[in-house]
Amino acid sequence: MNWNLALFAYFPYVALALAVAVTAYRMVYRPFSVSAQSSQLLEQKRLFFGSVAMHWGLVIVLLGHLLALLLPKGLLLWNSVPLRLYLLEITGLGLGLWALLGVYILFARRLSVARVRAASTPMDYLVLVLLFVSILSGVLTALLYRYGSYWFPAVMTPYLWSVLTFNPRPELLQDLPFWTKLHVFNFWLLLALFPFSRLIHIVTVPLGYLLRPWQIVIWVRKLAR
Ligand code: HEM
Repeated sequence: MNWNLALFAYFPYVALALAVAVTAYRMVYRPFSVSAQSSQLLEQKRLFFGSVAMHWGLVIVLLGHLLALLLPKGLLLWNSVPLRLYLLEITGLGLGLWALLGVYILFARRLSVARVRAASTPMDYLVLVLLFVSILSGVLTALLYRYGSYWFPAVMTPYLWSVLTFNPRPELLQDLPFWTKLHVFNFWLLLALFPFSRLIHIVTVPLGYLLRPWQIVIWVRKLAR
């Protein structure tokens, strides 16, 4: 069995098919199930610290990944000045560590707050563990195999595009180190689990607000004199 082929050429399509088909099914036939099933009513303080750290850390790091996918030449140009490369790498690392701390807080909260534990499912724990592995393997890749933002455009960008254009090139990942391969595989695993977990709430992000015409809200109450 060729594991490289199975994990990086075939499995991504299983993950993509599940993510698209099951998400669409839930949005059409089970619209009220598309939710993060917030546990804010059960505990607020730790949720705040864990959630803010995880979300902001991850969203910014993932926007960086997206930039490397969409504008690889721009990234290489930015990195052509060493100071800019260091700034980018240090920022990514800081954000990754912040997100790691956030996921740790959320996991510890789920285990230690009795009311939250009672409302948790095995999938909730699994998603947090996979997110932890994703971030840890990303941070280890950044630390051990410098400078990722320099070689991402040469290896990861063509690999991701090869999958998205249905012409997978798993050989690009063949000789990468364990942590980096784990990092990429873990992404496909999270994508496969996406529609079966509370991660599905990501599709409810109200991006429409960015595009719709703005509204004028007029206060009609008379001012007290
Ligand atoms: C669930 C999705 C993902 C998460 C949560 C995630 C998270 C992270 C984090 C936290 C880091 C360390 C911060 C940094 O230095 O930038 C990182 C680095 C990295 N990630 Fe990801 N990542 C994901 C998906 C991917 C995918 C799909 C690829 C490529 C196919 C990828 C390739 C890399 C590489 C090459 C680095 C090292 C960057 C560097 O050294 O600056 N990641 N990732």
